[in-house]
Amino acid sequence: MNTPVRLAILGSGNGTNAQQISEYFAGRTDVEVACIIYNKKDAYIAQRAKNLGIESHYFGRSDFFQNGNVLKYLAEKKVDWVILAGFLWLVPEDMLAAYPNRIINIHPALLPKYGGKGMYGHHVHEAVVAAGEHESGITIHIVDHHYDCGTTLFQARCTVTPDDTPDTLAAKIHLLEKEHFPRVIDETIKHS
Ligand code: GAR
Repeated sequence: MNTPVRLAILGSGNGTNAQQISEYFAGRTDVEVACIIYNKKDAYIAQRAKNLGIESHYFGRSDFFQNGNVLKYLAEKKVDWVILAGFLWLVPEDMLAAYPNRIINIHPALLPKYGGKGMYGHHVHEAVVAAGEHESGITIHIVDHHYDCGTTLFQARCTVTPDDTPDTLAAKIHLLEKEHFPRVIDETIKHS
């Protein structure tokens, strides 16, 4: 039997996507979530990892950008793909080199609109509502050297109505993320 493809999920916050991805692949023999990495000490994603029984590890800025500790950990865990699920730092160059076209990000808007530095989570929904947009959505893409760039793998749309607030829009976006992100990861790995 082939060894399973191993994923590392990187997050900075609540971790709903990390949980959904982990639950989607639980029980699969061909793909597994090897670990969850987070870069904010009090992030709820750490508790979710514990609840899911998945190994998790906090790494700070120097581990990502100076001493190579994250890369060493990924190698130790034999990670094949890196999934960014609400991870809010630019991916370091050495990680991009170690995982060429094997880092996938989700962004809560229809890129290239509402992307770039500072455009994450609730900030995105606030900007979309403030601009009076009629639609928003999600973009799942391969990660490259810039924030929210790289080949688009998938987009899904939702309507933004005049009575939507950033919170109600966030709820619509989370539903799209739940419906599509794990499946798109699965298909991207299968077709690689
Ligand atoms: C998600 O909506 C994700 O699309 C977004 O952060 C949220 C994390 O939620 N990512 C970005 O904004 C990246 N630029 P979660 O921690 O509950 O999965």
